[in-house]
Amino acid sequence: MSFQQQLIKWYDIHKRDLPWRSTQDPYRIWLSEVILQQTRVNQGLPYYNRFVETYPTVRDLAAAPQEDVLKLWQGLGYYSRARNLHAAAQQVVEMGGIFPDSYKDLLKLKGVGDYTAAAIASFAFHEAVPVVDGNVYRVLSRIYGISTAINVTAGVKEFKNLAIRLMDHNQPHVYNQAIMEFGAMQCVPRNPDCTVCPFKDDCMAYKDQRIEELPVKIKK
Ligand code: ADE
Repeated sequence: MSFQQQLIKWYDIHKRDLPWRSTQDPYRIWLSEVILQQTRVNQGLPYYNRFVETYPTVRDLAAAPQEDVLKLWQGLGYYSRARNLHAAAQQVVEMGGIFPDSYKDLLKLKGVGDYTAAAIASFAFHEAVPVVDGNVYRVLSRIYGISTAINVTAGVKEFKNLAIRLMDHNQPHVYNQAIMEFGAMQCVPRNPDCTVCPFKDDCMAYKDQRIEELPVKIKK
């Protein structure tokens, strides 16, 4: 079984039932990704539900007064995220109310960077672009035994190239959710239970007892 198949098999068994996983609506997926950028799932979940309930469509969000949006955001911190969210919703409405449907066009939205564009493009439109977040860095650095720092240009490039190579082109949306979920639930930062890991026989870091050392991050 390939890495992708094994990962997706793990995901099918262990995945959490999260509301943004049962929608293909790019607006809702975008909302969830912006909320989850610096926030844990458990903390972000009630905010996601309140946003979707209060602003069911991108037009509703765009039309809301900024202070209402900021109020609904209260407690999540990093308020520039909420301001960008509001501004980007207005951008979408100005473009006719249709959400951009490709990685390239999603990058044009305010506050949408490489990660968020890849997440929306793959989850909503099944475009084969890899998401590379903290979870993905951890999983790949350990399984492949990569010591290149993840916060230097060379590392970002190396991991991105590997992520592109590993991408499952048949079901990019499932693969991307699966690798993030695997990092969040199984290949956790501290004391992962490697005895139950499907990759324990292939994982370089496990073999060399370097789990706690990877990924490498340089202090700047
Ligand atoms: N964190 C960021 N994006 C996520 C997602 N789609 N599912 C679960 N956790 C996440």
